[in-house]
Amino acid sequence: MRHLISTATLTREEAILLLDTAEDMAATQDREVKKLPALRGVTVVNLFYEDSTRTRISFEAAEKRLSADVINFAAKGSSVSKGESLKDTAQTLHAVGADAVVIRHPASGAAQMLAERGWINAPIINAGDGCHEHPTQALLDAFTLRRRLHGNKARGRGLDGARVVIVGDVLHSRVARSNVWLLGALGAEVELVGPPTLLPGEFDRWPATTGYDLDAALARKPDAVMMLRIQAERMRAAFFPHTREYARMWGLTEQRFRSLPEDTVVMHPGPMNRGLEISSAAADSKQATVLEQVANGVSVRMAALYLLCSGVKEGTN
Ligand code: NCD
Repeated sequence: MRHLISTATLTREEAILLLDTAEDMAATQDREVKKLPALRGVTVVNLFYEDSTRTRISFEAAEKRLSADVINFAAKGSSVSKGESLKDTAQTLHAVGADAVVIRHPASGAAQMLAERGWINAPIINAGDGCHEHPTQALLDAFTLRRRLHGNKARGRGLDGARVVIVGDVLHSRVARSNVWLLGALGAEVELVGPPTLLPGEFDRWPATTGYDLDAALARKPDAVMMLRIQAERMRAAFFPHTREYARMWGLTEQRFRSLPEDTVVMHPGPMNRGLEISSAAADSKQATVLEQVANGVSVRMAALYLLCSGVKEGTN
């Protein structure tokens, strides 16, 4: 593994290695001194061309806990054409001695471009590219679910036979795409549910079943329900008549939430639209893992950075 661009190319073994390494990292985070020397002397650049709260903070925390030197670059507002600006930026990063790059970009494929074009010779981690993929989010989701389902026997295991329903704006969701591939590699069964306008045909080729009836999917008592954010900023058309109708048909309303078994895990990547795709009753319940997902994100990103970067400066760490 040289880069982390997508979960579609991760093998089961690689995925379990990442999750187990994240468990090792999590164990170090209970200590009084959380910092590890693993990436001392390694310069990591966080290149964020798109808004982010959780992912950006979590990568920065992970890098600092591994003792890397961190450079933050928020490129929001840049109007330079995509290919050119990325190339120029990459060459600049190369010139300042970046050893690894974490990139979030509104264009699908941006991370891959950076990894393949040879503008910079460094491991690239995709922190979300357009509607395409968000591999570290899927890894932290899998980590969270594996812990909830298997507790302290989680290490070394996949998610075999776990049934996960992913609900909502699948069309615009890089979280859904990365989760479908990763959950599939780990042996889980995935069902995608949402309005037909947000669940188009391409999903027929994915390792998942699709449906439009949330109540029917929930009646089958899944192990986990993952609610996706309605990504209004990516919508250039009306995909549903009214937010009230969306909430009624595809939201995890309080009533729907109360009908779930008490051990069904409720997940959301954040940021949440409370009252739209998820009710506060569900989001703030014990079954919800929203904040656990954020906390686990640091351990998972430490694992990814460690596995990809610990060899980049032989002799310095
Ligand atoms: C997601 C993202 O930005 O892709 N959020 C996140 O990384 N925690 C999901 C979203 O924005 O809905």
